Amino acid sequence: MSSAGGAPQNVIPAHLLRGQKALVTGANSGIGMATAIGLGRAGADVVVNYVAGRDEAEKVVEEITSFGVRAAAYEADVSDEDQVVAMTQRMVEEFGTIDILVANAGLQRDAQFTEMTLAQWQKVLDVNLTGQFLCAREATKEFLRRGVVPEVSSAAGKIICMSSVHQLIPWAGHVNYASSKGGVAMMMQTLAQELAPKRIRVNAVAPGAIKTPINRDAWSTPEAEQELLQLIPYGRVGDTQDIAHAVVALASDLMDYVVGTTLYVDGGMTLFPGFATGG
Ligand code: BGC
Repeated sequence: MSSAGGAPQNVIPAHLLRGQKALVTGANSGIGMATAIGLGRAGADVVVNYVAGRDEAEKVVEEITSFGVRAAAYEADVSDEDQVVAMTQRMVEEFGTIDILVANAGLQRDAQFTEMTLAQWQKVLDVNLTGQFLCAREATKEFLRRGVVPEVSSAAGKIICMSSVHQLIPWAGHVNYASSKGGVAMMMQTLAQELAPKRIRVNAVAPGAIKTPINRDAWSTPEAEQELLQLIPYGRVGDTQDIAHAVVALASDLMDYVVGTTLYVDGGMTLFPGFATGG
């Protein structure tokens, strides 16, 4: 089977998130970039966070502002507490508040287990898990300060944690990454439980194989793509747009009663496709 088609085009309603202010971490490439643009297309003002790659971040800002909303690029390392505090304070000063946090920034440092250094383990946990913790904590302080503004949203705030199918699927050679995403899953549910009474909705999106720089080796040649497709019942490798669509929907009031859920956006990767004919 070959990979046919891509994500549907032009499906984001232009006014779905009008008046809302969104912060997307790691928004200068891959899933974060598409998500920031998608939120802008839906009418939100967007802060495009990046840690390196200012030019790309500025290009994202330019594209978002073409939709007639505000955007700005903020540099901050999500694993650095002071920088996260400064970034969220700046956003409140310059944009007025934060309604939506997409805790997206993440990375891989792959190695076989006995070869994995403590630095590789630590780096992935610092960015993928601690980074989400810090950003969620600072955004939550602002949600609590402001409370619900019914004209803007039924919720006081929305946090969307970028997880992965590897919060569920063990992944040999990637113990740091899989552990970080397993941690994200439990952090998300615990925060959802703690914050729901304050009308803050915490959820996660768990992408499968999406074409981004993080996994280029897995899809960039026809042979690699063919092999990857064995794991994807829906028969195409995902686009960053697929994730943007899920985040926009989850962030909107269409999903107001969705609390503490992981939305898998994976073309069926978590359906154990090996069992379609085996077992
Ligand atoms: C990883 C990708 C991988 C995908 C499916 C993602 O979370 O970052 O490298 O292709 O999961 O295995």
